[in-house]
Amino acid sequence: MHDFVFHNPTKIVFGREAINTLGKTCTGIGRRVLLLYGGGSIRENGIYQAVMDQLTDTELQVTELGGVQPNPIASHVRMAVELVKSNNIDLILAVGGGSVIDEAKAIAASSRADKDIWDLVTAGRPIQDALPIVTVLTLAATASEMNSGAVITDEDSMLKLSIGGPALFPRVSFLNPTFTFTVPPDQSAYGAVDAISHLLEPYFTHGTPEAPLSLAMSEAVIRTIRQTIGAVLKDPQDYDARATMMWSATVAFNGLIRSGYGGTGFPNHMIEHGISGAFPHVAHGAGLAVVIPAWLRHMLDEKKPLIARFGREILGVSDGDDKTAAIRTIEALKHWFAAIGAPVSLSGLSINGSEIAVIAEKAAGVARYWGLKNYDAGRIAAILKLAESA
Ligand code: NZQ
Ligand code: ZN
Repeated sequence: MHDFVFHNPTKIVFGREAINTLGKTCTGIGRRVLLLYGGGSIRENGIYQAVMDQLTDTELQVTELGGVQPNPIASHVRMAVELVKSNNIDLILAVGGGSVIDEAKAIAASSRADKDIWDLVTAGRPIQDALPIVTVLTLAATASEMNSGAVITDEDSMLKLSIGGPALFPRVSFLNPTFTFTVPPDQSAYGAVDAISHLLEPYFTHGTPEAPLSLAMSEAVIRTIRQTIGAVLKDPQDYDARATMMWSATVAFNGLIRSGYGGTGFPNHMIEHGISGAFPHVAHGAGLAVVIPAWLRHMLDEKKPLIARFGREILGVSDGDDKTAAIRTIEALKHWFAAIGAPVSLSGLSINGSEIAVIAEKAAGVARYWGLKNYDAGRIAAILKLAESA
């Protein structure tokens, strides 16, 4: 096992009554709150009212900003930063999924640094100072509620890049599984794919028998998500299934499980950010469902034993030799993604082959930014070609 430092300061409050302490928590951190949310689902499903009930009986001064879009964009961050300055905001409260929480992090960093968000992103330095962030999670997927990363798209260049740093861990995140009851089937499935990808990528890039606990924990959580997504899709109001999914997605990417691998690589995320950067209508998890089987196919010779192990442990693959088992594993994974309603080809995302070059160029920009030196536009295009049709 490799040496590591694991430090995660985010407090999680989990359960049906989770947000009962939201008002008190916010009062203990700030005075003037920016309540940030997305396209309006929280107004329809009662979460907005539940949050406001918590905030109104306090001395908190609340400024609202909705309209965060899935795959959040730099111009909306800039608008929010102006609001933060003019209202002297000292706490960001994000109510939503990964997009809202990520944008909250970007606003928190940009406001405190008094620098344009895209300058901060492209500087690539860890964010050491930011306004405090509290989150109320409404969608199980990214683990942004318990990690220090955020992903933002610059609409001019169509580049989707990440920022991160110790100041971006939310102080407290409230996880009430009933708040995910209204997540539609497609977004629920994409969330499951995203959560498993956060374990699958470190597993296949740096997984090693010398870190058996990390391998086994990854497999346990992926297996759990696989078992649970069926129950979520069958009955969206199944509390235990939603709760299991919510906590699984959080632990999948809060830094704990991959500790001991000695590194991580996120080539599938790199390629996916090329897709949803160039085509913002693509949900992150949907893009990943397309990329992952193609990437595994591309890596077949290099990663045969691990792919075979994954198939045997998770997908019920029983073939004896590693090569056959690895091929079956990729087929079974694709089959599973399709069965839960995720697209498994570029055509399933309404993207045609002629657009591969543009995506590859955007993704290569992410690869350079992330230091994934082995991935140039040519190699990325070759992987995407494997995903052209189902
Ligand atoms: O806009 P609203 O009204 O919030 O509706 C959203 C949106 O349309 C809807 N939704 C959320 N909760 C709901 C709900 N609808 C009904 N009921 C609810 N309870 O679902 C749609 C998708 O929401 P979004 O926040 O975009 O999804 P997700 O949580 O998957 O976040 C995706 C973003 O996070 C980034 C992705 O790249 C993408 O931009 N990621 C962030 C990561 C991180 N910070 O660690 C890691 C990930 O790998 C990922 O890159
Ligand atoms: Zn992801």
